Amino acid sequence: MPGGVSSPVRAFGSVGGTPRYMSRGEGAYLFDEDGRKYVDFCMAWGPMILGHAHPAVIEAVTKAAKDGLAFGTVHRNEPELAELVLEAFAPADRVRFVVSGTEAVMTAIRLARAHTSRHLLLKFSGCYHGHADSMLVKAGSGIVTLGLAESEGVTATVVKDTLVAPLGDLEALEKVFKEHGSQLAAALIEPLPANNGLLVQEPRFLERLRELTKEHGAVLIFDEVINGFRFGFHGYGKVVKVQPDLTTLGKIIGGGLPVGAVVGRAEILDRLAPLGKTYQAGTMAGNPVALAAGIATLKELRTGDPYRHLAALGAVMDSAVESKKDRAFRLVRVGSLFWPYYSLTGPIPTQAEKIAPDAVAGFKSRYGGWLDAGFYLPPSAYEVGFLSAAHSPDDVERLVRAL
Ligand SMILES: Cc1ncc(COP(=O)(O)O)c(C=O)c1O
Repeated sequence: MPGGVSSPVRAFGSVGGTPRYMSRGEGAYLFDEDGRKYVDFCMAWGPMILGHAHPAVIEAVTKAAKDGLAFGTVHRNEPELAELVLEAFAPADRVRFVVSGTEAVMTAIRLARAHTSRHLLLKFSGCYHGHADSMLVKAGSGIVTLGLAESEGVTATVVKDTLVAPLGDLEALEKVFKEHGSQLAAALIEPLPANNGLLVQEPRFLERLRELTKEHGAVLIFDEVINGFRFGFHGYGKVVKVQPDLTTLGKIIGGGLPVGAVVGRAEILDRLAPLGKTYQAGTMAGNPVALAAGIATLKELRTGDPYRHLAALGAVMDSAVESKKDRAFRLVRVGSLFWPYYSLTGPIPTQAEKIAPDAVAGFKSRYGGWLDAGFYLPPSAYEVGFLSAAHSPDDVERLVRAL
């Protein structure tokens, strides 16, 4: 296994030290192979919003597994999860299930190109959209540029179809649409960017992006793989009152098993095969056991109780931070996403490029201490932490002391 891992950040390259082999999760806790217990604030990078091994989810998965792991046919869990997702993302009227967030983004992009008969994509520096070739493109040197490959193996042909603009920069946004608007198939953004710290955007930026995409006939895709179902039984689009054409989902909708989805209007989604000529397929797409985990998770979330608990935990976190006058970090928190920013000078960044090197170093130098004290945070200064409905106020207060 290259680097000993199935996904690079797990190798602890950003924080140093030895990754812990986890053997079991229960509620807010993880247990490693050496029997150590951690309060987990990574929560599998987002899916475990109810906590590890939530009884209702485990029961649903166990029951589904006993009926067979995969059929490769239509089955009743598909319309059941579809109805829950469409209720949450109204007025969307179609959903296609895939296996990961990456696949959801790939499918959304293909749909946008099919719908507009155009080729160019616009993405924003600092957002992450999975590992499809066209998304592994980073900003070049100009303000709005044709990007550069972010990975070896991504060809120049792919790169030249992706433009990269800075987050939050209205002037650059106007410029890119003025110059390339008529060729743009889609603009793709995490409405609350949560993959380079937590880069909270002004609603005006998202509103203007909506206006410009509409004016120029480009599809607006909100990548809500992290955001979706995180701030209520809906998307972040609803929080900022901006309606995208397509939304990509992952993480929470699978409740810990591999599920991704593209949600949106019939006019676009019905271009997918077999109705239309835009291809997408998957042996494991809509897997019955994975969808059972998603259904059980969304049913719990729909009661609203987990969100009420998360709101209370957020308030506990803020006041615990507030009471520590000698702290070395500032807290960026939106709902149950948080980011300890280890720099006390300058504004809180809203662009990835503005994250201070000392903030990264400050996080890294403390990481091993947190592990030894029994706190499992995402092993990178650029990743956000996740609160779950299984955390207690005491877990959160102890974390703040540790930070
Ligand atoms: C916003 C966003 N989009 C897409 C992805 C890719 O999802 P996956 O890892 O399920 O392929 C991620 C993963 O973290 C993400 O945060």
